[in-house]
Amino acid sequence: MAEIGIFVGTMYGNALLVAEEAAAILEGEGHQTQIFEDPTPEDWLPFQEKIALVVTSTTGQGDLPESIVPLFEGIKERLGYQPNLRYGVIALGDSTYSHYCGGGLKFDALLQEQGAQRVGEVLTIDASEHPEPEGQSNPWVEHWATLL
Ligand SMILES: Cc1cc2nc3c(=O)[nH]c(=O)nc-3n(C[C@H](O)[C@H](O)[C@H](O)COP(=O)(O)O)c2cc1C
Repeated sequence: MAEIGIFVGTMYGNALLVAEEAAAILEGEGHQTQIFEDPTPEDWLPFQEKIALVVTSTTGQGDLPESIVPLFEGIKERLGYQPNLRYGVIALGDSTYSHYCGGGLKFDALLQEQGAQRVGEVLTIDASEHPEPEGQSNPWVEHWATLL
C-alpha cells in the first residue's frame, strides 16, 4: 500500500477527470490517494518520501496551465535534489500544436534533474486522436499501480 499525491494542472478539466479516475483505480488497488487541484510546494513536501503522480495538460506554446505553475516554480526554486521521490507523469496535449505535451514533459525533465526516480514511462495523451483521455490513462494507471 502506497500513499500517492496526485498533482493536477488543467485548463478545462480534462486532466482533473483523468486524475479522478486514476485515484479511483489506485484506491481500488488498496493505495491511499489525495488530489491537489491547485497544488503548492507545501502540498508536495510530504510526498518527497512517498509517491507523486503529476497529471497535467499543456497550454500556450508548450507551457504548464496556471494552476500548476506555482508548484513547478516552487519545486525548481526551493526543493532541489529529491532522490527519494518516486513519481509518474501523465501529460495531456494535442499533436496539432507544436511542443506536443510540453507541459508534462517539462515537469518530468525537472524531476529527472533533481534525481527523482520515475516509475514507468511518461504517458502522453493526444486530444486530437483521443477525445476521451481516460480511455488512454486508465489502462496506463492500472499498469503503473503494479510497478509501485
Ligand atoms: C490555448 C491552447 C493552447 C494549447 N497548447 C498546446 C501545446 O502547446 N502543446 C500541446 O501538446 N497541447 C496544447 N493544447 C492542447 C491541450 O493541452 C489539450 O486540449 C488538453 O487535453 C487540455 O486538457 P485540460 O482540459 O486538462 O486543460 C493547447 C490547448 C489550448 C486550448
